[in-house]
Amino acid sequence: MSNDVKLIDYLRERHSTPVAQIKGPGPDASELEEILTSATRVPDHGKLAPWRLVVYRGDICKALGETFLEIALQQNGEMTDAAKDAELARFTRAPLVVGVISTAAPHVKIPEWEQVLSAGAVCLNMLMACEARGYVANWRTEWVAYDDKALKALGVNDGEKVAGFIHIGSSDFATPDRPRPQLADILTYA
Ligand SMILES: Cc1cc2nc3c(=O)[nH]c(=O)nc-3n(C[C@H](O)[C@H](O)[C@H](O)COP(=O)(O)O)c2cc1C
Repeated sequence: MSNDVKLIDYLRERHSTPVAQIKGPGPDASELEEILTSATRVPDHGKLAPWRLVVYRGDICKALGETFLEIALQQNGEMTDAAKDAELARFTRAPLVVGVISTAAPHVKIPEWEQVLSAGAVCLNMLMACEARGYVANWRTEWVAYDDKALKALGVNDGEKVAGFIHIGSSDFATPDRPRPQLADILTYA
């Protein structure tokens, strides 16, 4: 998104870039700090900050791929070479991945559901903050967000959940739009 695009125009056309189309460069350390700071400026009932972020980039992403492959082989037995490569590359497709981890927990006043929703808001805000800084992003979870062994390798603690892995980088790919719901089909006036 260029700086002279109005927010409403951006939102009208907003879309993700497929992970396979996300290449380098990724944001540098100060751009990333700005993106992550903006991303966490979200509605948050009770000011609990019921989420945290984990940045995966560089060698750690390669090592994670090896761990994912190991787990997948234990669970699936035989795998094709393409399937093995997909595991190895799971966190190296884009220059970096940011995990948005929901730390939602029972609270005396704030429903857990609302805490979870706030983590989703961080994910969408991060997509938009990336675009605002001239990068592209894609919000994924994939099986590694639901597998106990993978979660341990990813640094996700017991009781936490992955709201999203945001894959971030650059692209000039013209993403075709996907079908969008017609407003009339999902809207009623009470
Ligand atoms: C919580 C969540 C998890 C997702 N996980 C996956 C996934 O594992 N694999 C996938 O292909 N798409 C996944 N998606 C969809 C991608 O983000 C997809 O690229 C996106 O919905 C495209 O929509 P957009 O163009 O409106 O951003 C997920 C979306 C959400 C909200």
